[in-house]
Amino acid sequence: MKSVAVLPGDGIGPEVTSAALDAVDRLNLPLDLRFGDIGWECWREEGNPVPQRTWKLLEETDTCLLGAITSKPLREAEAELPPGLRGTGLTFVSPVIQLRQRLNLYANIRPVTDLVDGRFDFTVIRENTEGLYAGFDVHGLDDALWNAVRDHPNAQASGAAATSVTLRLQTEFGMDRLLRHGFAYARSRGHHRLTLVDKPNVLRHSSNHLRERLELIAGDYPDIETEILNVDAVALWMVRRPERFGVLVAENMFGDILSDLGAGVMGGLGLAPSGNIGDHGSYFEPVHGSAPGMAGQDRANPMAMLLAVAQMLDHLDLAVPGEEIRAAVRAVAERRTTVTYDMGGTSGTQEVARAVAGELAPAESAAETTAPRAGRAPSDDLVDRLARLDTASVSDALDSLGVGGVLAGIAPRVPGTRAAGRAFTVTYQPVDDTGEGFRNAANYLDDVPEGSFVVVDNAGSTTCTNWGSLLTSLAQRRGVRGTALHGSARDIAEIRAAGYPLYSTGATMVSGKNRVELAATGRDVTVGGITVRPGDIVVADDNGVLVVPDAYAAEVAERAEGVERTEGAIGAAVAAGLRLDEARLRYGYAKPWDGGRQPSHA
Ligand code: NAI
Ligand code: MG
Repeated sequence: MKSVAVLPGDGIGPEVTSAALDAVDRLNLPLDLRFGDIGWECWREEGNPVPQRTWKLLEETDTCLLGAITSKPLREAEAELPPGLRGTGLTFVSPVIQLRQRLNLYANIRPVTDLVDGRFDFTVIRENTEGLYAGFDVHGLDDALWNAVRDHPNAQASGAAATSVTLRLQTEFGMDRLLRHGFAYARSRGHHRLTLVDKPNVLRHSSNHLRERLELIAGDYPDIETEILNVDAVALWMVRRPERFGVLVAENMFGDILSDLGAGVMGGLGLAPSGNIGDHGSYFEPVHGSAPGMAGQDRANPMAMLLAVAQMLDHLDLAVPGEEIRAAVRAVAERRTTVTYDMGGTSGTQEVARAVAGELAPAESAAETTAPRAGRAPSDDLVDRLARLDTASVSDALDSLGVGGVLAGIAPRVPGTRAAGRAFTVTYQPVDDTGEGFRNAANYLDDVPEGSFVVVDNAGSTTCTNWGSLLTSLAQRRGVRGTALHGSARDIAEIRAAGYPLYSTGATMVSGKNRVELAATGRDVTVGGITVRPGDIVVADDNGVLVVPDAYAAEVAERAEGVERTEGAIGAAVAAGLRLDEARLRYGYAKPWDGGRQPSHA
């Protein structure tokens, strides 16, 4: 069990933090989350944005997850102090800077991944403690500094009082630990190239010093190729050819600029995560700030925070890889149906986080504790085989056997989802008296075996519903694969956000409560002349819903696999230049379920 100090902070910080943590809740992570205070409210009330109790919490925990923190210029900060604390010499120091300094977090890690097309995946590692931001920044020079710059013609023209200077501090201590961190990171994430970003043709001596350290340390990492590139060239290539990079290491200011460019390449602040790491401490946060104008509106993109959680899990080396969360975020980003405004959508923070949650497989122990249940579903090879097949192939296989299976008129409501499972049948009937009380008992869901596909018969009604968001979330918790309604559903937006495979005759908003009642479960159900018996295998995707009678399932799976092989062979032959009619002849299109195994040559 690892412990995490969770500091939600200000503005949108608490919203994205709680949405992200709720989403990963179902992974049942071995984490002890301990919440603490940080940020603007602490400053306003206590004159200290990082209270003593928070430092103590940080000491007691393995790492920290930070939301976002509001910072304001010194004068405004002073004005917001309680009257008793004003003028007492308290100064506002950004908590982020306090954390980095006090915990000695020398490396800022910014992964930049292409969530939509998977085209690039690189990481910018920025030095956090020295370089041009080391604090040697002077306006009006003393003699020592003046002597160093006085020969420059512009300095001559201005004089010591009208000149300012910033020193770029580079120490072997600072450079070596950063480079070693970069190599170790590259190795752990499977990157084969480390790019040192600098400006060797201009900053000749300090860049050469850095080059020497790189060459020395690279000897310990022979599996990783190195290169040194100019920062301006990297800026260009990061935009034009981001796929060429693996790990980029840069001094403080170059890294600052490139890491924000990376956030832009990735698609904006709502997506970019970061980690700050030292030898004895770390914290993870989204790159964005507290966006006070957006706070409390459920509009902020939670993906940056979800990816920060993933990065934290990688760092903690947990058995549940951050990759699982990244894959779930990627799936939702790719689908584009449930995204926030900054990605061109209209969904809210929580809705997006729920959609990501819907992509995460519940851990076994989490699933077991949600409800009492008769044990996990036994492995079901036939269902697994049919689940991998397209409904079009399964339909061809059924046709070849002269068996009908299409549940006509039952249409997909959640595009892009697919499911297969054993039918659990439910029959509704109209309420025939006007008695009081709740008549639409859907409590049958408590008893549905895991792995089932629920088939509900409400006589094809489109005037009232038998399914909605509440049943969807219960079904997901119980491991139900999908639902087909010979009837209607509501709460379609939420069900889409949850990514649940739902098929129905219609959609309406009218409740079925007290209009219909449960008649039976486990009864045969007939839809458009096709009978669904409990235990038959239901297969559904964007084409619609098919029922494979249990007795035929093995033969149907065999033949459908043959259909896909045949079509694959024909497709490959056509792509290679064969005429379609020749390819069809050669690969046995007349009997595609034979799988092209007996090519017939004319
Ligand atoms: P910001 O990152 O808070 O917001 C800039 C703009 O980016 C927002 O107006 C919004 O349009 C967009 N944005 C940010 N996060 C988003 C999200 N999750 N989803 C969708 N859009 C998002 O930067 P700003 O406005 O410069 O600073 C606001 C406050 O945050 C300031 O007090 C600043 O000091 C603080 N800040 C804190 C940081 C931290 O906690 N590490 C980092 C940057 C700023
Ligand atoms: Mg920055």
